[in-house]
Amino acid sequence: MAEVVIVGNPEEAGALYGDAAAELIARKPDAVLGLATGSTPLPAYRALAERIAATGLDVSQVRGFALDEYVGLPATHPESYRSVITREVVEPLGLTPELVHVPNGDPATIRTAGEDYEAAIDAAGGVDLQILGIGRTGHLGFNEPGSSFASLTRVKTLTERTRLDNARFFDSLDEVPVHCVTQGLGTILRARHLVLLAFGEGKAEAVAAAVEGPLTASMPGSAVQLHARVTVIVDEAAASQL
Ligand code: GLP
Repeated sequence: MAEVVIVGNPEEAGALYGDAAAELIARKPDAVLGLATGSTPLPAYRALAERIAATGLDVSQVRGFALDEYVGLPATHPESYRSVITREVVEPLGLTPELVHVPNGDPATIRTAGEDYEAAIDAAGGVDLQILGIGRTGHLGFNEPGSSFASLTRVKTLTERTRLDNARFFDSLDEVPVHCVTQGLGTILRARHLVLLAFGEGKAEAVAAAVEGPLTASMPGSAVQLHARVTVIVDEAAASQL
């Protein structure tokens, strides 16, 4: 079973990630970080940024791979995951922008976006430390219910629930893209260490189903049970149905 750590608040969870990531980078200066968007990982990125600033850790060679991207939003759109990762991760951590990858959601090249991204991850030697949030549908990245545990990076259709959840970042629901490119569950499972974070009561059901429920494609989060090294860090509210 996954190691489950219950913390008092998101900042404590962020600190645990910050310690693990800083230790990894100190040991392996060109470490490969798996990055997630959403509000959940923000305290973790903040904690890592603090550690980098406090210790002068050299992060110039650190590489990064984001989980997913919307299809059809220009990379320059403030809510494209390229923009979000630049704003929330690359700039505050001082990473080298060219070393941080986000799937390419440009419709013109979408046919090869998945295989190109898989090739880039392989060329980097795989992801060392993958941070994960979980959607209320149980999605990891944008692997909505029904995604194969063996899936690789590919185009997916977002569920209505996820589009509604993410509409808060856009002016209206109509502006939320319908398609995305996401690492597959099989891609995510190849990372060497998974750290899944979840906060708040709204995530309690998904957390319990992912960590303790049956292994099923209807609950993409349950894929973490197939991984040998998973740390689930949750607050009391998100742990309330465990
Ligand atoms: C988004 C992302 C996921 C993220 C999830 C939860 O749609 N694609 O990677 O884990 O939704 O978001 P939040 O952390 O804001 O609850």
